[in-house]
Amino acid sequence: VSNPVPSMEMLERADGRRIRERLSTNENEFRPAAGVEHAIVAAAGEAHRYPDCDHFALRHRLADMHVTAPELIRIGTGADGLLGEICRTYLEHGLTAVTTEGTYPTFDYFARTSGASVCYAPYREDRVDTGELARLAVATQAHVVYVAEPDNPTGAVLGRRELLALADALPRHTLLVIDGAYADYQAADDRPTTADIITRRALWVRSFSKAHALAGLRVGYALGAPELIATLAERAEHYAVSRIAEAAALAALDEESHLAQMVAHTEEGRRHYTRELAELGLRALPGTTNFVTARCADAPAAEQLTEALLDRGIAIQHLDTPALNDCVRITVGPARQRATVLAAIRETLKGGAGDGS
Ligand SMILES: Cc1ncc(COP(=O)(O)O)c(C=O)c1O
Repeated sequence: VSNPVPSMEMLERADGRRIRERLSTNENEFRPAAGVEHAIVAAAGEAHRYPDCDHFALRHRLADMHVTAPELIRIGTGADGLLGEICRTYLEHGLTAVTTEGTYPTFDYFARTSGASVCYAPYREDRVDTGELARLAVATQAHVVYVAEPDNPTGAVLGRRELLALADALPRHTLLVIDGAYADYQAADDRPTTADIITRRALWVRSFSKAHALAGLRVGYALGAPELIATLAERAEHYAVSRIAEAAALAALDEESHLAQMVAHTEEGRRHYTRELAELGLRALPGTTNFVTARCADAPAAEQLTEALLDRGIAIQHLDTPALNDCVRITVGPARQRATVLAAIRETLKGGAGDGS
């Protein structure tokens, strides 16, 4: 089982083409607020000090935000780090996990490396099929079910009601892992509430990498009932999240208007791509994330477009799962970048692909 998400630098080294626009991993192209960058610089002066491995300040701040107690919050090295902890804690050889075929692959990677078997529900009409996830969970008596809400790579949202219906359809012993890496882009009243999560066998995993623009620092958190969080902590690597990452996350939480602005700019960019791509015959799937996933004529067309853009130094993602292999995924960035990307797509579709001009 190999790393399902190689870094952009790894791809560049393997491929040889230089990447100028990194639009295949949904980093935040709008950058963090100035206040966050100042907090990072200030924390650098304390780099010789170990972090508070209890992450007291950040857990308290997040607990206030979620109107709950700090015992219900676990800090980790991004959503990925927490998915790893969850799989190492709740899965092992002989147990089963259920996920969607083609969804964000890191849960599947950690589930398999923990020795568990994984069952896959296919997408249904470009959405996660909650009925099939529940059916598989019951049939296999799964210990963990994973859902990304909003989903990557489709961008689709189930919404609070359908998400909770899924949670309530699972066997009593099944843990529902809700990967909310893009939850900040979702309408607030469509997200699960703290009460929704903690009254169920569920963990809501959140990230500072996307809307908060801190992907390079590796910080995220999980919210769940105290006994689930305490069990996770039992196997923890204690000093994994750095002092600088914690300081940046704390500062980012104070930048509410910057966050709102970034989300608004991203939405605007998503609408822009949707409109412009439609003119070029590419249909964008509906969603609320910092990327747009668009359907090309067929799988070879999607692959050719991806390759032609890479020739021009623009990395986008061709989706390789069967249900979506005619799609490309593009991170939504600022207007000037969108103009560059759209011009390159236009040129490519007109048959200019590969000429390097
Ligand atoms: C659904 C989903 N979960 C998790 C991650 C990774 O988040 P983090 O940087 O917090 O590990 C991504 C990144 O693309 C993602 O799309």
